[in-house]
Amino acid sequence: MPSVLLRPTADAARELARAVIGDLGNRWLHTAAVAARAEQLAAAVPPVDREILIASAWLHDIGYGELARATGFHPLDGARLLDRHGWPIRISSLVANHSGACFVAAVHGLEAEMAHYPDEASPTSDALTFADQTVGSRGEPLAIDDRIADMLHRHGPGSPNALVAHVRTPHIRAIADRVRARLGAVR
Ligand SMILES: [Fe+2]
Repeated sequence: MPSVLLRPTADAARELARAVIGDLGNRWLHTAAVAARAEQLAAAVPPVDREILIASAWLHDIGYGELARATGFHPLDGARLLDRHGWPIRISSLVANHSGACFVAAVHGLEAEMAHYPDEASPTSDALTFADQTVGSRGEPLAIDDRIADMLHRHGPGSPNALVAHVRTPHIRAIADRVRARLGAVR
């Protein structure tokens, strides 16, 4: 696995992701499908950010890999692995904040650790979350509300995800509305 990053390209992101989570079955199928979804969302982000979006899609769940595991909170563990591999703070911050991770981080008491990774709250971070939330856990296409329902079912009623669903779900729906508006605006 490369320890020094020359260019933070989508190809480099895919190869790092393959090395860390390529053996995780459904997780890898989900990741590849999110990356493909991100490619379809190129029109929703500035042209200069298209490769950053696709790279962050390949990397967004890298924190589930054995090499990354530390706190057990995958957005933060993934961001820290990227730091160790020399990836730009912008990409590690996109990974740390994907899909409303800040709400779940608060339940885990990880606000201080997450403060190292500012949420850019931009069309690019919106598109990353939209891609993740429209692909199911086995890589299948899913509507946003079905994806959220599946996630809550998998994590269980007392889980950190369930405890913040009342704030995280509207956050994700608002992101989806913004991405759809951006896609509509360019058609
Ligand atoms: Fe994901």
